[in-house]
Amino acid sequence: MAPDLLVRRALSRDATAISELNNSFASEGQMLRRTPEMISLAIDDYVVVQQGNGQLLACGALKEYSPSVAEVAAIAVSREAHGKGLGRAIVNAVEDLARKRGTYDVFALTLQPDFFAAIGYQRVDRARYPEKIRRDCLACARRFACNEICFAKTLLAADIVRAA
Ligand SMILES: CC(C)(COP(=O)(O)OP(=O)(O)OC[C@H]1O[C@@H](n2cnc3c(N)ncnc32)[C@H](O)[C@@H]1OP(=O)(O)O)[C@@H](O)C(=O)NCCC(=O)NCCS
Repeated sequence: MAPDLLVRRALSRDATAISELNNSFASEGQMLRRTPEMISLAIDDYVVVQQGNGQLLACGALKEYSPSVAEVAAIAVSREAHGKGLGRAIVNAVEDLARKRGTYDVFALTLQPDFFAAIGYQRVDRARYPEKIRRDCLACARRFACNEICFAKTLLAADIVRAA
């Protein structure tokens, strides 16, 4: 990753920029739309990659379902920065947040299976995560035509915690 990039926890003032980055992919159906207000309410769960000039280039969030299970969610990298390792970096930061909270079983429901496979996730049956199905899938309009694929990773407690 370029030396002028900073991976950090999100702050309240980032909510609008995170919403814009997230929603730039929502119109194509790649991401769920999220308002700045929705993001503000969960700001402690977000991490970002910031450029030297202050612009946010990537974001992601940890969505907890139980004390031991959480989703790597809302991963987005600005189009002009694709293919430079920021997606991997933001997922790493979300995983670090999970470790800090004592959560070692993380999963993602994604339309980008090759990305998650490339960064070390294993394809699993979503039935492994009934908490996710109960909270989100059962109420989703696309539940009978969902093309998202479930990927999971078991985190190692001994890994270095990068997200301070
Ligand atoms: C998917 C996304 C996050 C990837 O971000 P990125 O910064 O381009 O990814 P990276 O550069 O960190 O790539 C990491 C690895 O994944 C691979 N990869 C990334 N995107 C890929 C894709 N669409 N298809 C196949 N492989 C991909 C890279 O080749 C790389 O592999 P390598 O380390 O073996 O070379 C980005 O394209 C994005 O924001 N997409 C739109 C939003 C979205 O779909 N988010 C996912 C929601 S769960």
